[in-house]
Amino acid sequence: MTDNPFRAGLETERTPQPCVFVIFGASGDLTRRKLIPALYNLAVSRLLPPGMTILGFALTESSEDQFRANMREAVAQFSRRKPIDEAVWADFASRLHYVSGKFEVPESYQRLLAKLEKLDKTNGTRGNRIYYLAIPPSAFRAVNDNLSAGGLVSNDADRYTRIIIEKPFGRDLASANALNADLHRVFTESQIFRIDHYLGKETVQNLVALRFGNTIFEPLWNRNHIDHVQVTVAEDIGVEGRGKFYEEAGASRDIVQNHLLQLLMVTAMEPPVAFTADEVRDEKVKVLRALKPILGDDVARLTVRGQYAPGHFAGKPAPAYREEPNVSPTSNVETFVAMRLEIDNWRFAGVPIYIRAGKRLAKRTTEISVHFKHVPHALLKHDRLAATPGETSDGSRVEPDVLAIRIQPDEGIGLRFVAKVPGPTMTLRPVTMDFRYGSTFGGSGPEAYERLILDALLGDPTLFARADEVSAAWRFMTPILEAWEKSPPAGYPNYAAGTWGPAAASDLIERDGRAWRRL
Ligand code: BG6
Repeated sequence: MTDNPFRAGLETERTPQPCVFVIFGASGDLTRRKLIPALYNLAVSRLLPPGMTILGFALTESSEDQFRANMREAVAQFSRRKPIDEAVWADFASRLHYVSGKFEVPESYQRLLAKLEKLDKTNGTRGNRIYYLAIPPSAFRAVNDNLSAGGLVSNDADRYTRIIIEKPFGRDLASANALNADLHRVFTESQIFRIDHYLGKETVQNLVALRFGNTIFEPLWNRNHIDHVQVTVAEDIGVEGRGKFYEEAGASRDIVQNHLLQLLMVTAMEPPVAFTADEVRDEKVKVLRALKPILGDDVARLTVRGQYAPGHFAGKPAPAYREEPNVSPTSNVETFVAMRLEIDNWRFAGVPIYIRAGKRLAKRTTEISVHFKHVPHALLKHDRLAATPGETSDGSRVEPDVLAIRIQPDEGIGLRFVAKVPGPTMTLRPVTMDFRYGSTFGGSGPEAYERLILDALLGDPTLFARADEVSAAWRFMTPILEAWEKSPPAGYPNYAAGTWGPAAASDLIERDGRAWRRL
């Protein structure tokens, strides 16, 4: 028995085979902040198989000892578990190796291959390989082609090769399809793991548990009971030194096309017939296929974009987006997006889905809220006056019920409903029933990257995006992005850092007689 509920189940059921985990881009930020700390934490949880080996590959010349020292610093700074467990670290460090090379130079891959074959012999990794591409998308093709030409890819029964790819996966439908075609020349779909770290978050997986592990929610999860849904991915940080990347991406490519649409898919999908990779992803992709396209004049009517002006963050002045390093002083890139979506299917027809995402908003919070319909007849009094439709005869209004799934921080689920205020009259007030991860399970659960790396080691792609899923997301987003490009935004910047975005985002929902949740 384990005393850590987050480890229950994982330890006993899931032991991967040893492999060499090759990180392309090993001197980059993602490796330091996420990948190595996640691998180290898997080692602490004893979820890595004996012999498991990690091989860094990057342009920077570095000795293996130097690489180990750098990775130790990364773990000290970014691991969720502190301080470093010296016994685990000593073993983990002995599994860390490094080769320097250039992504586009075939000879580098010959050195990589020689190193891999040597490690197979010493560590018993039996030719099993995972290539993690933590590199700019412009280098994907060179790595893909050189791995293939250099004889570094196999899919025999007795040894596997897998590839994990970070976002951004393309920048529109055509480029994403081209990238998929490139990959499919070398890898089969079952070897490709397109990572979206939101799917590795405990709270996102718990949304599946909430919907399909209980009987009380699913009967209500449809147009008969739901008035509308809101999905918010709000960040209080700015672009954090990633100006160059963000100028290419903007909020729609950085967050909406991937993370936010993933949240929407898990919220709206039909129950799969089994919890297996293809069954789950079949249902998810159907949600995207059912999204009503936003085309022509609807782009201006149903979407809002914004960019932050100077403002305040944590009591200190915060610069405008256009003042961030490596950002053009006349940039028209959006740091905020809001949209009104509709899912044209039997379950959700006519239920508006309001989404918003942005940087430098008032608070870091990601939440999905399901807003149920008003009571059909306002029999009882509410204790707050509201000048909105659906009022009781005395002008008060019964607040509809809301189920709020807090993805992060303050992870949990709250159900807001009305209760009687104690006293001589039948007066109602909203109250909340609340489930909190922290107080229920204690400690901190695994980071998204831990879960996803473990799944890739096990060859389980359920929580990774399939080719058709990525294409469907781009098919929805591309016409919007093209329309935006054709008509540059007027009035940027249009919201102050530290606020909830441009006024147009409030108008988008308020003209339907609804309001964004106060978070
Ligand atoms: C990344 C984006 O994919 O997700 C970042 O590139 C963003 O811009 C980050 O800050 C948010 O992730 P999380 O896990 O902090 O919500």
